[in-house]
Amino acid sequence: MQDYYAARAAEYDEVYSKPERQADLRRIERWLPGVLAGRSVLEVACGTGYWTQFFAPCCTRVVAVDCAPETIRIARPRVPPQKVEFIVGDAYSLPAQPELLGAGFAGFWWSHVPRARVAEFLRGFHAALEPGAPVVLLDNRFVPGSSTPISGQDAAGNTYQTRRLSDGTTHRVLKNFPSEQELRALVTPFATGLRYHEWEFFWALEYAAAAP
Ligand SMILES: C[S@@+](CC[C@H](N)C(=O)[O-])C[C@H]1O[C@@H](n2cnc3c(N)ncnc32)[C@H](O)[C@@H]1O
Repeated sequence: MQDYYAARAAEYDEVYSKPERQADLRRIERWLPGVLAGRSVLEVACGTGYWTQFFAPCCTRVVAVDCAPETIRIARPRVPPQKVEFIVGDAYSLPAQPELLGAGFAGFWWSHVPRARVAEFLRGFHAALEPGAPVVLLDNRFVPGSSTPISGQDAAGNTYQTRRLSDGTTHRVLKNFPSEQELRALVTPFATGLRYHEWEFFWALEYAAAAP
């Protein structure tokens, strides 16, 4: 996964050019900053900063973590430099912060978390957030004809796609498409006021971080 995203960094944003997804993207771009506005935000797996660029200007501060320096290099010039601290780090072992953050965001990260590691990720993520912090998890719905087809499934129920990069290399990438029911069951122990949003191509969970 990490090697794949490092190799894909330069062409990553092409996924945001798919014509059929534009209307959903505009809606989410308008909605998301309002949820995080005025907060200090922990963003996990920030990638090329596609989403960071929309909310960073209205947040007090953003700590944006990704394991790939290649994606962070693309993200950095997209955001106000005084507001965003980029950290090369691991989503499962988030870099310690001097204080708890006031909001959390992870875009298109959940789908890459193996089912066996979801609770581990959620524990670490929420441990870095203030109780009551607004959180948004945003990701893809599987839409035949638009999504890359599923090419396999493992014994734990994780699904995989075979993706090709412009250099001709192919990569087997874990990509899960959870149901609303599954998401609610997994996130409820960490959340209050859980709301599930659904667009044609995307889903989001919005909630307040529960006290530990
Ligand atoms: C699908 S991209 C999402 C990027 C961005 N959030 C967006 O929505 O455009 C997934 C990102 O997760 C990062 N990543 C993969 N494994 C990671 C890990 N263990 N810790 C932190 N980031 C990771 C990749 O480098 C990649 O940038």
